[in-house]
Amino acid sequence: MAPDSDVHTLGTRVWVKDEVESWKKGDVLKLDGENLVITIDGGKQIICKAEDAPIQNPDTRGGVEDMTRLPYLHEPGVLWNLRSRYLFDDIYTYTGTILIAVNPFANLQHLYGPHMMDQYRGADLGELSPHVYAIADSAYRQMRKEKKGQSILVSGESGAGKTETSKLLMKYLAYMGGYSESGDQKKGSGRSVEEQVLESNPLLEAFGNAKTVRNDNSSRFGKYVEINFSSKGVISGAAIRTYLLERSRVVSVNNPERNYHIFYQVCDGASSEEKSRWQLSAAKEYHYLNQSTCFTLPGVDNAKEFRATVYAMSAVGIPGQDQEAVFRVVSAILSLGNIAFGPGQDEESSVVLPGPPSEYARITAELLGVDKGGLVKALTTRTRQTPDGPIVSPLDAKAALENRDSLAKILYSKMFDWLVARINNAIGEDKKCAASIGVLDIYGFESFAVNDFEQLCINLANEKLQQHFNQHVFKMEQAEYEREKIDWSYIKFVDNQDVLDLLEGKMGILDLLDEQCRFPTSTPSDLANKLFTSGICKDSKRFSKPKRSVTAFSIDHYAGDVTYETTNFLDKNKDFVVAEHQNLLTSSSLPFVKALFYDPENDAGVDAKSGKGLKAFKFNSVGSQFKKQLAELMAQLHTMEPHYIRCIKPNTLNQPGNFENKNVLHQLRCGGVLEAVRISCAGFPSKRPFADFVDHFWTLAPTLIHSDLDDREISRKILDKAGFTGYQVGETKVFLRAGQMALLDKQRTDNLNAAATIMQKYARGFLARRCFAAARRSVLLLQAAVRGFFVRMEFKRARELRGALTIQRYWRGYKARSDYKKAYRLVLQIQSMWRGRTARHRFEHMRRLHAVVVIQTAFRVWKARRRFQRQREAAILMQCMFRSKDAKRELRRLRAEAREGTKLLEDKKALEAKVVELLGTLETVQNQRNELRQQLKDEKVSNQDLDRRLKELEASNALLLAEAAKASVEELVAERTSREQFEKESADLTVQLRDLTERAGKEKAESDRKLDSAKDYIARMQNERSDIDKRFHAMKDDLLTRLQNACSQRDEARAQVLELQAEMEKVKEQLTVKERQLMVASASAAAAALTPAAAAAASHAAPVANGSPAAGLDPSLLTPLVQKGAGYARALSEGIMLGFGGAAATPPAGIRTGEDIGRSPALGAPGGPETEAERKMRELQAKQAQMLQDKRKAEEERLLAALSGNLGFHRGRPLAAIIIFRCCLQWRAFQADRTSLFDRIIGVIGSQIEKQQDDNAFLSYWLTNTVTLLHLLQKNIKPASGSQSGKRPVGAATAARGVFGTLFGTRSPNAPAHNEASIHGGAAGGFKPVEAKYPALLFKQQLDAFVQKIFPMMRDNVKKQITPMLANCIMTPKGTTRARSGSADQQSAQIAISKSWGEILGVMESLLGILREANVPKPLVQALFKQLFSFVNVNLFNQLLLRRECCSFSNGEHVRTGLAQVEQWIQATGAEYVGESWEELRFIRQAVQFLVIGNKQKRTLDEITSDLCPVLSVQQLYRISTMYWDDRYNTETVSSEVLSRMKQQMTDVNSTGSHSFLLDDDATLPFAASDVLSTLDDKDLNMGVPIPEALREGDYAFLEKELKISQAA
Ligand SMILES: Nc1ncnc2c1ncn2[C@@H]1O[C@H](COP(=O)(O)OP(=O)(O)O)[C@@H](O)[C@H]1O
Ligand SMILES: [Mg+2]
Repeated sequence: MAPDSDVHTLGTRVWVKDEVESWKKGDVLKLDGENLVITIDGGKQIICKAEDAPIQNPDTRGGVEDMTRLPYLHEPGVLWNLRSRYLFDDIYTYTGTILIAVNPFANLQHLYGPHMMDQYRGADLGELSPHVYAIADSAYRQMRKEKKGQSILVSGESGAGKTETSKLLMKYLAYMGGYSESGDQKKGSGRSVEEQVLESNPLLEAFGNAKTVRNDNSSRFGKYVEINFSSKGVISGAAIRTYLLERSRVVSVNNPERNYHIFYQVCDGASSEEKSRWQLSAAKEYHYLNQSTCFTLPGVDNAKEFRATVYAMSAVGIPGQDQEAVFRVVSAILSLGNIAFGPGQDEESSVVLPGPPSEYARITAELLGVDKGGLVKALTTRTRQTPDGPIVSPLDAKAALENRDSLAKILYSKMFDWLVARINNAIGEDKKCAASIGVLDIYGFESFAVNDFEQLCINLANEKLQQHFNQHVFKMEQAEYEREKIDWSYIKFVDNQDVLDLLEGKMGILDLLDEQCRFPTSTPSDLANKLFTSGICKDSKRFSKPKRSVTAFSIDHYAGDVTYETTNFLDKNKDFVVAEHQNLLTSSSLPFVKALFYDPENDAGVDAKSGKGLKAFKFNSVGSQFKKQLAELMAQLHTMEPHYIRCIKPNTLNQPGNFENKNVLHQLRCGGVLEAVRISCAGFPSKRPFADFVDHFWTLAPTLIHSDLDDREISRKILDKAGFTGYQVGETKVFLRAGQMALLDKQRTDNLNAAATIMQKYARGFLARRCFAAARRSVLLLQAAVRGFFVRMEFKRARELRGALTIQRYWRGYKARSDYKKAYRLVLQIQSMWRGRTARHRFEHMRRLHAVVVIQTAFRVWKARRRFQRQREAAILMQCMFRSKDAKRELRRLRAEAREGTKLLEDKKALEAKVVELLGTLETVQNQRNELRQQLKDEKVSNQDLDRRLKELEASNALLLAEAAKASVEELVAERTSREQFEKESADLTVQLRDLTERAGKEKAESDRKLDSAKDYIARMQNERSDIDKRFHAMKDDLLTRLQNACSQRDEARAQVLELQAEMEKVKEQLTVKERQLMVASASAAAAALTPAAAAAASHAAPVANGSPAAGLDPSLLTPLVQKGAGYARALSEGIMLGFGGAAATPPAGIRTGEDIGRSPALGAPGGPETEAERKMRELQAKQAQMLQDKRKAEEERLLAALSGNLGFHRGRPLAAIIIFRCCLQWRAFQADRTSLFDRIIGVIGSQIEKQQDDNAFLSYWLTNTVTLLHLLQKNIKPASGSQSGKRPVGAATAARGVFGTLFGTRSPNAPAHNEASIHGGAAGGFKPVEAKYPALLFKQQLDAFVQKIFPMMRDNVKKQITPMLANCIMTPKGTTRARSGSADQQSAQIAISKSWGEILGVMESLLGILREANVPKPLVQALFKQLFSFVNVNLFNQLLLRRECCSFSNGEHVRTGLAQVEQWIQATGAEYVGESWEELRFIRQAVQFLVIGNKQKRTLDEITSDLCPVLSVQQLYRISTMYWDDRYNTETVSSEVLSRMKQQMTDVNSTGSHSFLLDDDATLPFAASDVLSTLDDKDLNMGVPIPEALREGDYAFLEKELKISQAA
């Protein structure tokens, strides 16, 4: 090894020893031969030897997680690392596989709990931040993998946190052991073994822990818990072993300490009834407790603890009467302590003092179930065995007191042992377990001012464990060398076997002690003498005799010298029950006490009272017993794989945040950590991975960096170049001997110094140049300014001159202009006056002319108008007259025409016929007249004839005048008479004719009159007809209203009938429901949670559901139908009653309308239609039932078969769901009281899902189907109404509750209201939902369960897929910061990361494709993505916070680029599908933002919390701030002021908020009912769908028809 001074140069940072702080930081100021001049504390100079100044490790804020990674592994390095970590609350640190835990003395809740356990579950040791869970997990996994027992050895001094740590270990093991084989956490049922194991802790603590100066809850016994695991890794049993309970504490307590907790618990916590039963007083009253003034502990409530203890007793299975007995014994011990003794009759004897002591003796005897006299005797006498038989001798008062105390001690320790045995019994060791894990919580090495026998035993135990530890460390070191394939012959095993021999070997200290104990009279100095003079002690190098004391001796332990005082050794080593006590207590009437002291071997002794050979006692020593126990323990540990946890107490004051170097160093030494360091130093203490090494030392051979050599070769070359020998190059690391690293570092520093000089040279040159340039620039600037000034002056003068000229010019111009303007104005005035005058003249003339023309015009107009008016009036008069005449005529004509109505034609005809008849008569009369006229003519002709003959005669007469004159005259006269007669007759005939004509006229008038009357008659008839019409209409209306009434009456009657039916059905249903209740017992467990919601729903449903089932049909629905025709109405109403299947099967309109109108009895008798309808309904039902039964089976089978294939989609709606719904509707399955259809459908779907659990495409197909089906059911069916709904059985009521209500009820408070609305009011098109019976509602529930099942399945599938990719999204940038190839490495890392992100996005993309293909409703898609991104967020964020190496600047940049990729994808995909996913990533985004933000030192807390990372909690910020490191630019994390403010805030909020800095993955269903329902519309849902191939055969034609539910209404 090179001389130390070789490793120091100027400015080397080193450690120097310090009295107070052990080590201080300093800088080398000067090299002075062998010595160094070092400045510390910014000024103070000291001189020390080079070898006393170890080199500091490079400053890593927050330390390193594994100390073996420290470049310099030495005492100050280890100490400083622990310290800097501790100050950031990083209490755990590894040294290889050993965990060092520094007691925080504060509640660091964020470090523990299930979420943390979850993180550490399955993580490799060292992968995450150091943690006790990591040790437990590695033990557990090693056990499962290798099927080998594991032991976890927790050691440390009192108050260092051993017990807490082992409790944490056990909790973790219980947590892991509580997982069932399928990987699910078992739900606690009853008292599981885990719980019993955990509950044993508080119980044992109550009886075995006490407050000491060092620890308020110090375990006063050693404990080894072995937890058994089955081959599946489930806890199957446990065994607890305890060591060396401190008995002396029962009877004597030093002042600030306390006795065992249980005493105080009983005194404060027992109820008054219990107190009187156990005859208890206040704690202050008891001698055993009031030796100290401390009775309560801060923050601990004795009474509460008592209840916890009682609970724990019950939990581990101690029955009530045993608990009672235990507390009796506890009380008995307390009162035993109050028995006091005074001198008896003679010096040697003693008696119990009268008064309270005597009373306490009574109480004690009573509580122990023994005779008071016997008790007093046992306390005040001693029996000695002599060869002549037993001799009873009295004891003096002091001896009696000691006797009493020893009874108390033995009672307590027996009770403690019993408790342990009882716990072991209750939990039960699993002898056949696959493997077990032992947790050892045992006192650490102790060295006080005065060390007693306990310390000797404790230190023996620690020596043994140390040996075990050394072997282990040695083995591990060796293993590493072997793994790296390097020569390990260098390392030498450090052994402490000599100390062990000295302590427990043959004729060792314990042996000698036992030997002395056998002599009742031996004294401590005898013992000391023996030790100094005999056995192996006197020769041992480790053993020495202190100068001053004769009774003390010293041992050189691995952790230092300890001097033991032998005064109490003999007493404390004895371990046997005095025969009197044994006899007394075995005679107890209490079985418990009796059993405590029952000793089968000693039984003989009890009988022997009667005579021979009473064995006085069986010699038993604490030392030998402990030795035996230790040997057993070690034997066991040797078969197990050890894991070590070293607990460290940072200060003696039990304060948080206080790290006392000296103290800790001492403990590191005692705990063997430095020993481990020493072992390591013996070999190759400095190990560095090649990459790291090259990264650090590349400056030693800068040319190599650009060669193609790998890191291993470069390392080798660097070392060779440095001229080293003895180093080793392993597989992954360089191994350097002690000191070599320092030498290398020196070379490196020198190199860097040289480089720095060169850089300084250039920098200075640069600065000088810059300075010169600046000066030159200033001079030029100045010149320019001066010149500028003069020029500006000149310019100003010139400008003023020019200004004056300008002003003059303007003034003159102004003057000339104003003069000119004045003259111009005057001329204008004159002009205008003249022009005005002439214009006025002209105007006057024009006015006159105009007036004349106006007058002329008016006159001419007047004349013309007058003439025109006159003419017009005349014309109008003439027109009027003419027109009025015309009009009158027209009026007359119209009147005449009006008189003859067309409708009178027939009557007119009749009358005309009469007229014709009369005309006929007239004709005959005329004919007669004509005849008469003819006759008259004839007569006249004959007359003329006669005249002519007369003339002839006259002529002849002339001739015959004489003779004939007379005859002729006579004849003439006769002739004349006949002529006259004729004339008379003719006159008669004329008269007659006139008469006839008169009669005909009369008759015509008559017939006219008759015609008029006929007309009247017709008019009357017409009136009558319209009357009749009116009456006819009135009557019709009347009949229609009566028909309506009749119909409504009929409906009422029918409703009553249905109500009766419903009631009958209800009774039946109640029966079936009762049966079902058994069936759904399991479901009702789940439903039980929802019962309140269901009850609310049921009560909500009640008002709607009252009345008969038919009341569900709105009467207003029927009225318009009735008006259209009764038959039609009936057909329709029947159709509705029977369900839509019926309606669809019976054509609603037309067919029966015509005939039914004719013969519908509805018009006549209102009672008729009821019976008819009923009958028809029944017939129809019967027919349908018959038909359905025949067909149903086959069709169901076909449907189910079809469902097992992918039916695909129709217009974006899932066919399967629609078909199921339509089939159920068609087959009226919803109304059925019993049907197996639903169960079978559910069965098919379930088995489908089960079969394809991993196929998201398939799952999403079914997700869409189930959701759509649920939607259909939700819209179209409702729970059967009826008055019974109020008293529905719970199961049914739960089912009746909207499915989505149970599904989402807990998440969205307004969901139930929405449900109710949609069930009862909001159904499509006012259609009344089908009333569903219980099976349908159950079906809904099961579908709902499917949705709840499928969604998480899909989510978990994707999670499973992306989890391995996520691990690569955050890089562990080991050695990527190298200057030489930095960018290349960076790039490759970047590429790897973006590849993983790309893969994740690929998964998302394909998932999206699948979801879209399956038409999954968008809210579900959004919810799915939201949860997935939330998972990504949680996962990455937790990884970041748990892995220190991830919290680096460059990693922040990498993740940021990855996130940018994600953002792009999200934006490209659109909110429609991925919704708020980007928002879900906010934690990781802000954490990354924090990592990459520059200048953290300058940021204030407000800035960080409100601007930069508003969502991160203080815990998270604190964690990330302390973890942050910059691998690139070496920037620092936030300032220490900000850190301390964060810490302050953390303690402030700790009382309220959650403590974990980790995020929980939320696995609840994230979507709300309203979202899903609102987006599911009815579009295309009720349309006809094509019949799938699989259903071609059956009668599925109805599928093709549109479902006209709402239209029918
Ligand atoms: N991990 C821890 N977190 C918080 N407090 C702790 C932790 N470990 C120990 N302590 C504190 O230290 C005290 C002493 O611890 P304990 O385990 O009883 O010490 P030991 O068993 O080593 O004597 C505990 O009462 C507790 O207040
Ligand atoms: Mg303890």
